[in-house]
Order: sequence, then C-alpha cells, then structure tokens
Amino acid sequence: MTLIRLDSVGKNYGNIIALRGVSLDVAAGEVACVLGDNGAGKSTLIKIVSGLHRHDSGTYEVEGRPVVFDSPRQALDLGIATVYQDLAVVPLMPVWRNFFLGSEKRKGFGRLDVHYMRRTTKSRLLEMGIDLRDVDQPIGTLSGGERQCVAIARAVHFGAKVLVLDEPTAALGVKQAGVVLRYIVQARERGLGVIFITHNPHHAYPVGDRFLVLKRGRSIAYRTKRDITQQELTALMAGGEELELLAEELESVTSSAASELAQDAKRLGITSD
Ligand SMILES: Nc1ncnc2c1ncn2[C@@H]1O[C@H](COP(=O)(O)OP(=O)(O)OP(=O)(O)O)[C@@H](O)[C@H]1O
Ligand SMILES: [Mg+2]
Repeated sequence: MTLIRLDSVGKNYGNIIALRGVSLDVAAGEVACVLGDNGAGKSTLIKIVSGLHRHDSGTYEVEGRPVVFDSPRQALDLGIATVYQDLAVVPLMPVWRNFFLGSEKRKGFGRLDVHYMRRTTKSRLLEMGIDLRDVDQPIGTLSGGERQCVAIARAVHFGAKVLVLDEPTAALGVKQAGVVLRYIVQARERGLGVIFITHNPHHAYPVGDRFLVLKRGRSIAYRTKRDITQQELTALMAGGEELELLAEELESVTSSAASELAQDAKRLGITSD
C-alpha cells in the first residue's frame, strides 16, 4: 500500500527554486532514502511531507488522497511523524517523561500515571532492543544514537504510519549509526513506511528499498534497490567524475611537489643520483 506519494512537487522560496519536479513514493514496510549534498533540497522535501511548508506545484497524496497541510499537527494526525536531527527533548527530564512529552497519561483528578508511563517506556524500548537500566535517568545522559532510538520508539508507540528521519546518523560514530540503522529496519519490519534523509550512501544502501538523489533541487536519480548498486549510488552522491578529477589534480600536485623536493635534496647534497 502506498502511504505517501509526491508527484512532480516544486517549492520556491521567493525567487530561489528549492525543489522542482520531484517525485517520491513510500509504501508500508519500505524505506525510501533521500540523498543529496548540502542545499540539494532534502530538508525542503521533508518539510513539505511533515506539514511545515506547503508545496507550490505538483501533488502530494497520503494514502491516495491529495493533501495540503497547514501545520505539522495535521500531518501527525494522518500518522506522519517526523524526527528532527536536533531532537526536541528536555535533557534534564527522565527518559519516560520525554517519551510521553505532550501526550502524558493521566488517571483520576488529572494526576500523572507515572507507573504506567515508566513501565510502558521501558517495555516499548525493550521491544526495539534498547535495554535501559533506568528510565528515570535524565535523557541528556543517553548517547546521541540512543536518543534517536527513543524518538523512533516513541513515534512507533503513538501510532505513526510514516516515519520521517532527517539525518539521524549524521552526527554519530560508526557503532552508534549502526544502532540507529537497526531501528530503521525494525520500523520497516513493523510495517511502517520510512523516509530516511542522509548524506551517506553507506548508511542508505543497506537499509533502503528506494533511493532518491537530489541535486540543486532536482531529482537526478530515483531508483529501486534492484536498479542501482552501492557503487553507482556513491558515484551519484559524490559527483563521481568531480571526485576523480580532484584525485588526479591532487596526485599531480603531490608528484610535482615530490620532484621539487628531490631536486632540493640533490642540490643540498643530501642525496645523489
Ligand atoms: N527558508 C528558506 N528561505 C530561503 N531559501 C531557503 C530556505 N530554506 C532553504 N532554502 C534554500 O533552498 C535550497 C535547498 O535547501 P535545503 O535546506 O532543502 O537543502 P538540504 O538538502 O536540506 O541541505 P543540507 O544538507 O545542508 O541540510 C538551498 O539553496 C537553500 O538555501
Ligand atoms: Mg537539510
């Protein structure tokens, strides 16, 4: 089932064209990766999906119905949850408070049902393979990767159908990034549709089912995994040819520098022919 469909979507900021003619489909149980360099339009695309901005052209459909959102709340009501890179957490509050932030469970007389929230947070995190010793610890004491995972588990718990992740692995080391990638796979296994924004083809390829590569607001490739190899994806991302030219240039610089050094050495009598 297709959850999200963008068809030839465009967006301008004044006279800056941030996106033009971009299409993307996300089905349940699928990970769609959006790749591209700085300024390519990745954030603009997910702001449209998550209801923060409106598109100027093209169509946006959720489960087959055209939508134009006025706020992220409307997107959330349709099950589209966005996890931003700078997570909106309160660092000194316990993990369970952050998990239920804005959706606190209450019992009689408006009192917080702390017991329920603690237990639920613990078990939801465990289901995703995160075994926290203590859900009372301040969320600020968790690693960046763990915090991303808490945000993902939270979106899943509150019934997200589509999970939008803006560069969740960007600031993480290899091991932490691996942890987050594992949860992306878990979310997919649970039948969610995932939109995963990243700079890194090595993070995208293993978990992605589709790949959209943006460059200066345009789509330069939109492929299913069957139709692209990791090498091709990397080349598209890096602007492969540009990289090769750069490599050649650097090599010729270093080899000419090396021969100058050799001549100097000879002149100074450090070496002979
Ligand atoms: N609010 C805005 N007003 C004007 N121009 C904007 C605005 N937001 C983005 N842009 C421009 O639109 C283009 C796409 O930006 P966008 O933030 O979507 O790129 P990105 O792919 O997310 O880049 P990065 O990898 O740096 O996050 C850029 O040229 C950017 O300068
Ligand atoms: Mg961005």
